[in-house]
Amino acid sequence: MSRGDPVVLAVALALALPGIAAAVPVFAAPAGDARRGEAVFDSYCSDCHGLIGVRMGPSLVGVVGRRAASLAGYDFSAALAGSGLTWTPANLDRFLAGPREMVAGTSMETLHLSRRDRRAVIAYLASLKAGPGRP
Ligand code: HEC
Repeated sequence: MSRGDPVVLAVALALALPGIAAAVPVFAAPAGDARRGEAVFDSYCSDCHGLIGVRMGPSLVGVVGRRAASLAGYDFSAALAGSGLTWTPANLDRFLAGPREMVAGTSMETLHLSRRDRRAVIAYLASLKAGPGRP
């Protein structure tokens, strides 16, 4: 990563200026969050979740707003299939914080993401919905 990398800068700013970061809502603008979220996705999700087709986990394109375990072509656990959840940002945040606390019996593992990284990756997933050329 270069010094000019926006993620590095954002992290440095957040560490150096927590008061300012909290006081200036624009700091958490969705676009910036989504950029950070893409890096989070690459590090923490992409081993199991592809953006095209099914890997060990289901594709997450369009997951924000979708009913849990509703994607055709993936063999979800009975636990998730019977959860009755819809993936609102709040539900995604809870699931990512503790998948098995929220849905006992899910095959998704706990990832130990910070709150900020969870928010960022959710913003990234939300941004994929509108992306052109995505399945
Ligand atoms: C070790 C593999 C693995 C990793 C890493 C992983 N997941 Fe998963 N994920 C799964 C599996 C397997 C399922 C299916 C769970 C089930 O059927 O109970 C799943 C399911 C999900 C679902 C529910 C999808 C749906 O259509 O209902 C979401 C949302 C999700 N993962 C998000 C993420 C995000 C975001 C990350 C990275 C921060 C991540 N996962 C990292 C394996 C993984």
